[in-house]
Amino acid sequence: MDATTFILFGATGDLAKRKIYPALFNLFIDGKLPQAFSVFGLGRRELTDETFRANVGQALRSFSRREANDDEAVSRFLSAFSYSVLHIDREDDYANLLRLVEQREAALNAAPNRMFYLSVGPEFFTTIAANVKSSGLGSADGWKRLVIEKPFGHDLQSARELNEQLSRSFEEHEVFRIDHYLGKPMVQKLEILQQANPVLQALWTNRHIANVQITANETVGVEERAGYYDHVGAVRDMFQNHMLQLLMMLAIHLPNNSTSDDVRLRKKKVMEAVVPLPKENVALQVIRGQYAEGTIQGKPVVGYKSEPGIAETSTNDTFIAARLEIDDYFWRGVPFYIRTGKRMAEKSTRIVIEFKEPLKQPALALDDSKTPNLLVFEISPNEGITLQLNTRDPQQKDEFKPMHVNFHTSEQDVPEAYENLIGDALRGDPTFFSHWDEVELAWKWVQPILDAFAENLVPLHSYAAGSYGPAASDELLAKDGYRWRFDAEPEQPNETKAGENYAYHANH
Ligand code: BG6
Repeated sequence: MDATTFILFGATGDLAKRKIYPALFNLFIDGKLPQAFSVFGLGRRELTDETFRANVGQALRSFSRREANDDEAVSRFLSAFSYSVLHIDREDDYANLLRLVEQREAALNAAPNRMFYLSVGPEFFTTIAANVKSSGLGSADGWKRLVIEKPFGHDLQSARELNEQLSRSFEEHEVFRIDHYLGKPMVQKLEILQQANPVLQALWTNRHIANVQITANETVGVEERAGYYDHVGAVRDMFQNHMLQLLMMLAIHLPNNSTSDDVRLRKKKVMEAVVPLPKENVALQVIRGQYAEGTIQGKPVVGYKSEPGIAETSTNDTFIAARLEIDDYFWRGVPFYIRTGKRMAEKSTRIVIEFKEPLKQPALALDDSKTPNLLVFEISPNEGITLQLNTRDPQQKDEFKPMHVNFHTSEQDVPEAYENLIGDALRGDPTFFSHWDEVELAWKWVQPILDAFAENLVPLHSYAAGSYGPAASDELLAKDGYRWRFDAEPEQPNETKAGENYAYHANH
């Protein structure tokens, strides 16, 4: 791998501690960091290198997937770290940083390849990018890359402005926009599962698929993020980025041996084919919700408006469900239902594919929900694939029963999203990062929803914390004759009792 200097803005922040340092450490353990590798942590606070390293070490002990208990390995890892004070708008600080980076590169005899990781609020992105350019930090004789976190803009207009400003300092191929859902191992596998399995390839069309359901439910509420979340809501926080990325990843059809350009081009094609939703129709296809008080895992919790920092009058969405259609050869006529919410009954991100033609024989006394074949991709927190088939009940021979064939991977074997993404960025592989074209198309699709919410054209339904969202979300599917599948209640317990479970443990 190329020698790399990893320059981290926001080095004392929460994301760095919880995700970035543990990801780097696990890459180090796996031998996936370059030989010549340095990390420059940047922040406003005065810190010595020793204190910074001690803090990083502490973060590893608290958050690393693998225990950081091998002192020798930890100290070898930490020897690559140093810290510099940097005020984002102070040009002198960048000049000073350049000197330090050059010294370190010279000491290691390393090429000046520099990765700038912006783990800071989006309001700082453009200032940092401009200063990286004007200071000369970004114009050395090696490669440069910019890694940025979401949110990428607040709406279509602001996203375009941000992109325009960043593009003055970095070219598109140098920008790695993180959407951590694209780093989730099961999401990365969707592509290969389809390519490597002719049986899936054959089924992946409107001829066999009745509908697709994409869910990302969380049990957490707004937590300490009122200042951010109350201005963005579920639509900007989750839907515009993570959920639409899942839709693109699921709906692409790829040629064998596809390159990262193929993936991105075809994702773009999918997004272009999503039927636009005019503002006047948003209320027909989109459900907006906000959690009221309720119970999560047996504990009472307050409603959104009683959360610290949230106004009694807030109309912010903590839940969104939408019905989309993709107007292309493969997907025409297949509704895609997407939902995401906070304070829901369970933490689960999954994609359910419902196949056509549920069993219809009346003599076989299936309950009226029928039992279609389902293919379920569990993305997180558990990872697995379930296929729901029908079989005969051994006791009551005239009845069919659903049977689940489950493939699970054990959690500790699975790399964290950030490990995958940072590893890819270090190698310069952009496959699982959001290209500007995708981001722009996603904002374009979402913009009428933002407008309709702002103009109050869409009712704000309340739902009890610990539920599966407002009843209107069920009605959205019921209108088409469907229902949300695989929610833990009430479907799962009955089916697990009735069905047989075949579990295979994938050997990773
Ligand atoms: C983040 C959102 O992008 O994703 C959070 O800002 C959300 O609000 C989180 O909680 C969910 O991620 P995950 O990986 O826990 O599903």
